[in-house]
Amino acid sequence: MDRIRIVGGNPLNGVIPISGAKNAALPLMIASLLTDRTVTLENLPRLADVSLLVRILSNHGVDYSIDGRRQGEEQDAGQTVHMTAREIVDTVAPYELVSRMRASFWVVAPLLARCGEARVSLPGGCAIGTRPVDLLLMALERLGASIEIDAGYVVAKAHKGLRGAEVTFPKVTVGGTHVALMAAALAQGTTVLHNAAREPEVLDLADLLVKMGARIRGAGQSVIEIDGVARLNGAKHRVLPDRIEAGTYAMAAAMTGGDVMLQGAKAEHLKAALDALEQSGATVDASEEGLRIRRNGGPIRPVDISTAPFPGFPTDLQAQFMALMTRAKGVSRITETIFENRFMHVQELARFGAQIRLEGDSAIVEGRPVLKGAPVMATDLRASVSLVIAALAAEGESMVQRVYHLDRGFEALERKLSRCGADVTRISSGD
Ligand code: EPZ
Repeated sequence: MDRIRIVGGNPLNGVIPISGAKNAALPLMIASLLTDRTVTLENLPRLADVSLLVRILSNHGVDYSIDGRRQGEEQDAGQTVHMTAREIVDTVAPYELVSRMRASFWVVAPLLARCGEARVSLPGGCAIGTRPVDLLLMALERLGASIEIDAGYVVAKAHKGLRGAEVTFPKVTVGGTHVALMAAALAQGTTVLHNAAREPEVLDLADLLVKMGARIRGAGQSVIEIDGVARLNGAKHRVLPDRIEAGTYAMAAAMTGGDVMLQGAKAEHLKAALDALEQSGATVDASEEGLRIRRNGGPIRPVDISTAPFPGFPTDLQAQFMALMTRAKGVSRITETIFENRFMHVQELARFGAQIRLEGDSAIVEGRPVLKGAPVMATDLRASVSLVIAALAAEGESMVQRVYHLDRGFEALERKLSRCGADVTRISSGD
């Protein structure tokens, strides 16, 4: 298993190109199952989750090809992938695959909408909480599917096709909204989604579906209307920039006291996080090129945050913001409202000397002037990267274990950080 060695203390200075968003790429790729034509996705990040989903989709019958590197193109430029599901050859998504990546459960929607049936393994729990799929199934049932659970699998059937309906989500769910959008796009009649997720990734999926011929109004707002169509076409679409990657490097720049241009990042996708960063003493400038984040000299001020669905503070940046707060001059309260168990980074941050106490769904962080490097290990993607951020600012050497978590969601992390002056080295298991 690879490890990452970090010697902390260098401020980050330079340009970091922001990759395509993992959490947009995954539903966009899954949407290729909705049509027998080719869906071309540009700017797909080179991530373990993307490669795994390509394999999962190919089991269902998706042919794919990846464009080679073009003249003058950067090594880390996003990939262009062409995906064609001419024929769905298998409507079963087995446990071995779904358990490795929760988002692959979402194939249930296009398989059901296109083939009238799907048998998809329940994803089970994961490191950040129980993460049920009841609301995804509720949406499909509202659209006329029959749902049964058989031996750990969801068996969804709609042999006469799905029908448009009113769907009200009692809780905002990104996955539920993705699933409902894909299913409703091919249902007969009109669907109205109430309390839909407003995340930019939902809008990105809706944009692709519209290019494929879907009729969708209101994506990006909490009420979305979809007039179903009989078939969808191919389309070409560019994956939006990764707001979580951008927010992560923004926190790293603020933490180390540097000056970084996050090329391609969009301020409108990150407003809550940027507000918190500014309150903490960082300077944020948005331009055509991207976001420039600086913290020159001044102290890190404590800021209380509470995670919430978009446009609130993203749960996927909670761990990284906590890392930043461990060096604030004062006490901050970080409240997690989306996932009940998303504080596993607390124990590991403590290994750097951070002072954090848990109180129900909140972490009380008492900032310290100095963190000390340490060997650390993480249990999920965003928790791992919070340890990287802490290590960048800690005195001395840190070793981050279980790097495969980072490889799921951060493209070329060591290269991007090293180019900005960080002392970061990947140590491969063979070394
Ligand atoms: C997406 O997960 C993201 N994953 C997560 O990112 C992100 O943390 C989350 O949205 C919230 O923003 C991808 O896009 C691949 P939800 P998702 O359905 O869709 C509850 C990362 O690190 N809920 O919006 O699975 C659920 O338990 C990952 O990149 C139900 O109760 O999240 C949670 O409390 C981690 N029943 C809340 O809703 C359901 O049927 C929001 O979950 C579905 C969800």
